[in-house]
Amino acid sequence: MRRKLVVGNWKMYGRLGRNKALLEEVLKGIKDLNNAEYGVCVPYPYLAQAQSMLQGTKLAWGAQNLSQHEEGAFTGAVAPGMLVDFGCRYVIIGHSERRALFHESNEIASAKFDAAIKAGMTPIFCVGETLAEREGGVTEQVVARQLEVVLNHAGVEAMAKTVIAYEPVWAIGTGKTASPDQAQAVHAFIRQQVAQLDGQTAQGLCILYGGSVKANNSPELFAMPDIDGGLIGGASLVAEDFVAICRAAHMAAQ
Ligand code: 13P
Repeated sequence: MRRKLVVGNWKMYGRLGRNKALLEEVLKGIKDLNNAEYGVCVPYPYLAQAQSMLQGTKLAWGAQNLSQHEEGAFTGAVAPGMLVDFGCRYVIIGHSERRALFHESNEIASAKFDAAIKAGMTPIFCVGETLAEREGGVTEQVVARQLEVVLNHAGVEAMAKTVIAYEPVWAIGTGKTASPDQAQAVHAFIRQQVAQLDGQTAQGLCILYGGSVKANNSPELFAMPDIDGGLIGGASLVAEDFVAICRAAHMAAQ
């Protein structure tokens, strides 16, 4: 059976004091949840705090972005090796907020993906369609294209070290979750795209669902055969809610 994974994406939220309280509560809450894996992707300035609080615990940590360059005159950017210095296991790449608000193309996302793999981190590579694309019936084409750029460039072997997150843009921060069947259909499609190149890698590929995952809808989502956990925005900032979602993954993995 594939592992289940729940990762919190804190986005641009946090303060030292609040983070400490949140992480302490989460660590307490997941102490006995041994069947699944858990992580948080925090803003860059809090990586040191995450590292010092989470080292040796069940909660891994990572970043929400990285530069595709190793180093150089790139004011404001953060190199892959810097994330490695702070013990990051995960780095989110191609999130729809990066694509839409920071104009990150499929090609830039693909270059960042390569940089993360090269640095030895696990990319959490996000794909997903907008509402207009879903209503236009092109969800599969959009997701296939987003995946294809990475597959063509890094090769299917890289998928063995990757987590994919399917995040329909219309479900992010809107309270509108994809139904378990809607999400399952796209997850199965993603797995099938990878299976065309390598069946075994596709079977092992961890595909998370993201978009308004909450404590109450997570059990149903995580029960679907191709949904291997969640990438959690808003609910990851509330310890009780995040722990409840982690528990749903733990239960689904039993
Ligand atoms: P919400 O859970 O707040 O909808 O955010 C989802 C997301 O974008 C996770 O990366």
